[in-house]
Amino acid sequence: MSRVNPVLARALRTTPLLRLDVTHRGRVRRLGLKLEEHGPTGSVKDRSAVGLLRALHDERPLTPGTVVVESTSGNLGLALARLLPTVGCDFLAVVDLKTPHATRRGLADSGAKVIVVDEPDGLGGYLLSRLRRVRELCADNPGYRWPDQYENWAAPEIHRRTTGPELTEQAGPELGTVYVPVSTGGTLAGIAAHLREHRPDVVAVAVDVRGSLAVSGSAGRRLVPGIGASRPSVFLRAPHSYDRAVHVDDIEAIAVCRIIAEDIGLALGGSSGCAVRAMLSDQEEAAGDGRLVVCLAADGGTKYRDTLYSDDWAAEQGVAKEITSAVRRLRGEGLFFDRKHQEH
Ligand SMILES: Cc1ncc(COP(=O)(O)O)c(C=O)c1O
Repeated sequence: MSRVNPVLARALRTTPLLRLDVTHRGRVRRLGLKLEEHGPTGSVKDRSAVGLLRALHDERPLTPGTVVVESTSGNLGLALARLLPTVGCDFLAVVDLKTPHATRRGLADSGAKVIVVDEPDGLGGYLLSRLRRVRELCADNPGYRWPDQYENWAAPEIHRRTTGPELTEQAGPELGTVYVPVSTGGTLAGIAAHLREHRPDVVAVAVDVRGSLAVSGSAGRRLVPGIGASRPSVFLRAPHSYDRAVHVDDIEAIAVCRIIAEDIGLALGGSSGCAVRAMLSDQEEAAGDGRLVVCLAADGGTKYRDTLYSDDWAAEQGVAKEITSAVRRLRGEGLFFDRKHQEH
């Protein structure tokens, strides 16, 4: 096994847990948001990228000039684009039409070569088309290295070793349930593995979006980037890899993002809105025991200003009225967020 590259050994930082009170249908719950936007490139994928590149480097050293290729909805790409130049490697990012323009610009600005796949995969997204393109590129260029975030267990492993322990330490003994948005399933698989070992009393919930096959369900249109997939997660196949799954409506998740921004001035990414939406219905159904609930907020809202937070975009997508009425309905149920506690 080769020595871990020193750049990759120091590439992560702890992210804060923001504590809020959330009122819904007359009940007040204590909510922690694990704000992964405070990572080096602004998402939970900073961690996955470090895990994947360390594993690739261990398998065969990443020598200067090596080309690394990966399929990404954007965030893993941004994280790889930061790290690869520091070890002298080039990066080829295979993204798709749903990848926000701000992310594509960020990738190009970091020196990555960006290939945009525009062929829908027939299952509500572009994932299978992106993977096909990556396989073609690797077949045509045998020197290319592919971390393969969808099947490489180095991704869950780094979340087991970093995200999980950080989260349980910050939340403390009062932690009851953790909600994690799922795409590859790597983040949840790692956090849940940590919980199984060290906090078996804590419930791990997979948050998926309507139209995704990541944990179950049927394929369909998906509006929120980052969450969901056109195929089941390889990392969540084992029967006890998480406790239960909640599918959320993407329109409602966008409405929740907008309500949080209005109430506390914090713009979260769409998958975080999904996690909070899932928490609200799940806690009601499971008659939550009052312990602290934590939602993994995988990224921030800045790069979605022109999409999820934009009325023009909503009108273009034909969902403006649906979002407005979802906001009204949730407000009618008394949904309100309050910054009660300090960040830890
Ligand atoms: C914004 C966002 N949320 C959630 C996820 C899901 O993470 P995972 O692929 O580890 O399941 C991703 C993954 O790209 C993401 O970018």
